[in-house]
Amino acid sequence: MLRGTVELIGDKSISHRAIMLSSISKGNNKISNFLMGEDCLSTVACFKKMGVDIELNNKEVFVKGVGLRGLKTPSDILDVGNSGTTIRLMMGILAGQNFESTIIGDESIGKRPMKRVSNPLRSMGCDIAGKDDANYIPINIKGGKLNHIDYHMPISSAQVKSALILASLYGNESSIIHEKVKSRNHTEIMLKSFGADIEVNNLDIKINPVEELFNKDIYVPGDISSAAFLIVGALICEGSEVLIKNVGLNETRVGIIDVIRKMNGNIEVVEEHEICGEKVGNLLVRYSPNLIGTTIDKEIIPRLIDEIPIIAVLATQADGDTIIKDASELKVKESNRIKSIVENLNTIGANVIELEDGMIIKGKRKLQGGKILTYSDHRIAMSFSVANLISENKVLLDSDKSIDISFPGFNNLLKELSK
Ligand code: S3P
Repeated sequence: MLRGTVELIGDKSISHRAIMLSSISKGNNKISNFLMGEDCLSTVACFKKMGVDIELNNKEVFVKGVGLRGLKTPSDILDVGNSGTTIRLMMGILAGQNFESTIIGDESIGKRPMKRVSNPLRSMGCDIAGKDDANYIPINIKGGKLNHIDYHMPISSAQVKSALILASLYGNESSIIHEKVKSRNHTEIMLKSFGADIEVNNLDIKINPVEELFNKDIYVPGDISSAAFLIVGALICEGSEVLIKNVGLNETRVGIIDVIRKMNGNIEVVEEHEICGEKVGNLLVRYSPNLIGTTIDKEIIPRLIDEIPIIAVLATQADGDTIIKDASELKVKESNRIKSIVENLNTIGANVIELEDGMIIKGKRKLQGGKILTYSDHRIAMSFSVANLISENKVLLDSDKSIDISFPGFNNLLKELSK
């Protein structure tokens, strides 16, 4: 069983944006509760290479912003490691700079598509080259003057949307981006507080270029995508009760809470408040013996896309079928998550059918344990560490190194909570 109180680590998406926006704004600021995970540290390293003075001290970061046009030609190739958010958002910023840059990353980034960003940036006048017509790294960007864009997003992606919003800051006139389904909106919230001229009207985002952005101190709320592993652990382990403090509860991120409630899970939001334009609260989660299957599809998918691996583990403990569809974006995450979830869950004794755009999990099944492959995907590693808590025999991971990408200290925390 899991019991205790957790002070949650900072949100990955917001930590990335905090570094990027602070770097291209005027003035100095402090970022508190920054996530010192490998992905966010890749963002820090890239902006340092472009001449930004960034000092890390425990969970605090001090940035000396250089302004919208103050970045310098990188001292070296920009290496984003495993981080999709770093590469895609940074491409938007690099498109507007007066210099040329090259971006690389690790093996997983090497398989992730970038044309979704390269193509609209090209239509703004940016010169981008790279493997397979700039779909894959290495990507070379010759930045410069950009035109504005009026873009209807073909997929729902906060990374693509954010890249285009950031490039629009450097446009010749006002740009508009139309979303199909609402994706996380941290870029819009933070930009507004930094003085950007950005107007959000439901699914339409209008950006007017400004001369400068201005730094403000930022407090990064806890990451609901990291909390998700502890939440599911508490829901499925008999006798559990966990209070998770300081969780970011932005509407565009809390799909997992809606799903848990539909599945009969016992989760309560206590003490909700707002910090830096983001909703934050404490979550109280208790063991839930009467979980039922549900259907997860359409508009809710972007609101829980990163939580699908751990929701799938949860679904093995729910009576009836859980159907996940409209989620083909899972195929282009840190691993092909449809395959990595389905194969591994079946290996440890669940009954899961693979779909083209999701999966069907047939519950409730007693998990047996076994050897699983993480494909160096942090969310797969953590999902199966949670599955291990309720398995008859051990769930053995090929490696748990990837966990440091987004949740350093996860294993110790799980041990501390396990009674
Ligand atoms: C992220 C957006 C999502 C998410 C990723 C982080 C972000 O990706 O899966 O882990 O910080 O903007 P997409 O926008 O590509 O769906």
